[in-house]
Parts: sequence; C-alpha cells; structure tokens
Amino acid sequence: MKRLKRLAHHIPFAQWLYGKCTAILFPGSRRYWEGRYGRGGNSGDGSYGEFAEFKAEVVNSFVRDNRVKSVIEYGCGDGNQLSIAQYPSYIGLDVSKTAIQICKDRFKDDPTKSFFLYDPDVSGDQAGELVADLALSLDVIYHLVEDTVYDLYMTHLFNAARRFVVVYSSNQDSGKTAAHVRHRCFCDWVSERATGWTLRQKIDNKFPFDPKQPEGTYLADFYVFEKAGACGDDV
Ligand SMILES: C[S@@+](CC[C@H](N)C(=O)[O-])C[C@H]1O[C@@H](n2cnc3c(N)ncnc32)[C@H](O)[C@@H]1O
Repeated sequence: MKRLKRLAHHIPFAQWLYGKCTAILFPGSRRYWEGRYGRGGNSGDGSYGEFAEFKAEVVNSFVRDNRVKSVIEYGCGDGNQLSIAQYPSYIGLDVSKTAIQICKDRFKDDPTKSFFLYDPDVSGDQAGELVADLALSLDVIYHLVEDTVYDLYMTHLFNAARRFVVVYSSNQDSGKTAAHVRHRCFCDWVSERATGWTLRQKIDNKFPFDPKQPEGTYLADFYVFEKAGACGDDV
C-alpha cells in the first residue's frame, strides 16, 4: 500500500486504485482513529503549526470576550491543539482510547482539564452532567463518514452546550475525498434539528482553500452558534 500511495502521486490509475483500496480497507471512523493513534500517528496537520495557531487565536479570544467559564470538546485528539488553548475549565472527549490516554498523560498536572472516552452508541446524559458554556468541534465533522455516527455526534454536541457551539469544519456536500474524509453541509443539520440555536457568526479561514494549490490551505471555517435566551451571567 505504501508503494501504491507513492505511485498515486504521479500516475492517475494508481491514484484511482489507491482510493479504491483504502475505501475497501477502511475500518470505520472510530477504528481508523484508534489505529492511527495506536501506530504513533497524530491528530493531523490542522492541529499543529500555523493552522493550530489560527484555531487557538479564534477560540481563545471567543472564550475571553464572551466570558465563557467552561468548555467541552467532542473529539479532543492528541491534545496538541489544546496545549495552546486558554480555557478556565475543560472536558475533552474522544472515541479513541489512545488519544484520551495521551491527553491524560500530557495534562496530568493541570487540574482544570478532564478527559473521558466517548462511546456515541452507549453514551446518554439525561441529567446534563457533561455540559459546558461552550461545546467545541474542531476538525471533526468532516471525519464523520458514517451517517449514524454523524447524526449522534451532532445531537450530543448541541445537547452539551449551555450557551454556544463553535464548529471548525467544511460546510459543503462535496462528498468523500479520502476514505476518512466526508464533507457535509452541516449547517443544514443545525437549521433542521437544533431547535433554538442560531448561527451568530462565521469566521473565514486565514488560509482559505485553493483547489489549484491545496497544500497549505484549508477547507474549514469557524461557525459560531448561539442558543436563544442563554445569558452569560447566570451560568
Ligand atoms: C483531526 S482530529 C482533531 C482533534 C482536535 N479537535 C484538534 O483540533 O486538534 C479528529 C479527532 O476526532 C476524533 N473523532 C472521530 N470520530 C469521532 C466521534 N464520532 N466523536 C468524537 N470524536 C471523534 C478522532 O479520534 C480525532 O481525535
């Protein structure tokens, strides 16, 4: 497969064949991420360097300006992005056991942060224990390739927020571009299913996607959703 991947950069047929093979071998989103972290992989380019700095600038100033006291993140990853975050209190959830272990080790001396393994199929939080002022989804939605996984994720994400949901994602139905990537118009889900939530702001990417030169550019933007009637002072 590694040789085929190298060839795929140069030969269109090899590219097509590589795409077919990875799609057939794709184990599902949850197992894909667990396997990736288990082999020593990381959360991806978007969680490192200038991409991560841009994400942190936006979310850190949002948290400060809106006096957000608590943050919950669905899909916290390996914690590299989190290492430059400034949140008063934080809960990180992820479907990968290895990612949670990495974060637990990395932030073991930080009493403001907790991490839990998230199993979408069995999780249920009727009592609202895992709730925060702000629910975050950074670079996750376009990795939810299965419809049922996507639907549960969106439901849990919006249920976990008292005041705001901040999403950093693509928002177009351009389908699967890799076995572990499926772009969706997630704002449609919010309009149809997230009663009481409105899109307050869209913040464009500092490195907007350029199809002619995709290297170093990004398809995701920030989307800030606000809950009707939520007041910052009584939370
Ligand atoms: C590209 S990484 C982003 C990590 C982090 N949010 C960041 O910005 O650095 C995507 C993360 O989403 C997690 N993930 C995948 N499917 C998920 C799901 N259904 N629920 C929660 N997290 C999920 C993966 O395990 C992975 O850690």
